[in-house]
Amino acid sequence: MEATRILTEKDVSLTGLCAVSPLSYENYVLKGGYVGLTKAIDSLGPSGVRDAVKASGLRGRGGAGFPTWKKWDMVMRQAEKKRYLCCNAAEDEPGTFKDRYLLRSNPHQLIEGVLIAAFTVGANEAYLFINCRYEEERAFMAEALRISKAAGHWGEGSASGITLTICESPGSYVAGEETALLEVVEGREAKPRQKPPYYPTMHGLYGKPTVVNNAESLSNVPFIVREGAEAFQAVGLPSSPGTMVFTLTGDVNVPGLYERPLGTSLRTVIDDCGEGIKNGASLKAVFPGGPSVPVIPASQVDLRLDFDGLKAAGTGLGTGAVIVMSEASCMVQTAIQYARFFANESCGQCPPCKLGTVHISEILEKIEAGQGTSGDIKLVRQSCEMVKGRGQCFLLTGAAIAVESILGHFRHEFEEHVGAGRCPLSSQPVA
Ligand SMILES: Cc1cc2nc3c(=O)[nH]c(=O)nc-3n(C[C@H](O)[C@H](O)[C@H](O)COP(=O)(O)O)c2cc1C
Repeated sequence: MEATRILTEKDVSLTGLCAVSPLSYENYVLKGGYVGLTKAIDSLGPSGVRDAVKASGLRGRGGAGFPTWKKWDMVMRQAEKKRYLCCNAAEDEPGTFKDRYLLRSNPHQLIEGVLIAAFTVGANEAYLFINCRYEEERAFMAEALRISKAAGHWGEGSASGITLTICESPGSYVAGEETALLEVVEGREAKPRQKPPYYPTMHGLYGKPTVVNNAESLSNVPFIVREGAEAFQAVGLPSSPGTMVFTLTGDVNVPGLYERPLGTSLRTVIDDCGEGIKNGASLKAVFPGGPSVPVIPASQVDLRLDFDGLKAAGTGLGTGAVIVMSEASCMVQTAIQYARFFANESCGQCPPCKLGTVHISEILEKIEAGQGTSGDIKLVRQSCEMVKGRGQCFLLTGAAIAVESILGHFRHEFEEHVGAGRCPLSSQPVA
């Protein structure tokens, strides 16, 4: 078994840098805080920062793993000079709470990351978009903002000249989608925009070029600028450098947040970080990156958690939400749980999304209740196939992928439900 690689003081560490008294500006500065911002403004300049981030290989931690520098570069190339930056800490996907922890454990690091990114893309206004349920974290961030402003890092007359504003996300999953986020910042409902033509890098906030980056992506930026791309590359894999804050949940003994180098195996995260499966049971399945990426069976537990390796294996790193299911889990119930989540969270703007997710949930519920037929199993598969790619955002496709992958790997469980006329693992049908 691969040994857990414990991060040391010298490593890229998002969570460890300022774990003691995270609001302390002095503590942050003692550990190299704000060196990156000063270096960006005084010596590297926008193109120098972009090149350092490019060389570092940093990829987005918000779900898609898009190279961070590329998004910045798209905005930098726009003729329009009024630009915006949004930091995405909406975070409402099941099993994900890493950004919450970063807001709490290292707010100055995130502020510095936002300021460096805004400076690089030429945005003199940036928004911190934070889940409305994260009340304490928002208050924490507000205090850190007050302190960093007083220290002269942002605001009118500061060296950066950037203004920062906290914006409350309504606490719905879809509000984290980048164009829905822009709608909320502009004061409207969280409903994704049509892409094309409304790509944020071209027509973003108030129609201006806008970068939307995840809070964890931005938290990585101060280290890269301060220590250089090579230092960042020294941890993780060449194609997936750095660390990721994995949110480990489900049937493990010690669920929680674990920052590990990218490329750490799933088995290491489950067995060493999570101390194995609850009640000595064996592993059945894992969502390695949240429920919007395909589930994998226990036989694939030696896969490494990195962007390209998981993609090649037919799944994805997503948000790094590792959701573990033991042999005691009913996979039809698991499918219902996520299908219902997506149905409830669908904003209703695209009929195939609301109707499709509700329809899929209803057939699954029929199967779980023991009233399904083999035709219903086929219908679940066909419905997933039919709705994929038909919504304005990825929510509908993510829903279809979750259900389809569960059915793909655990079809026998669906057939057992139909054959037995009941759930073999439960005496109670799901409510
Ligand atoms: C339905 C939906 C919800 C999303 N929720 C979040 C979220 O809460 N936080 C986040 O950073 N990205 C979320 N994303 C991805 C964002 O649209 C966007 O890709 C991301 O913020 C980009 O940041 P990154 O390039 O730094 O990863 C979501 C996407 C979809 C389709």
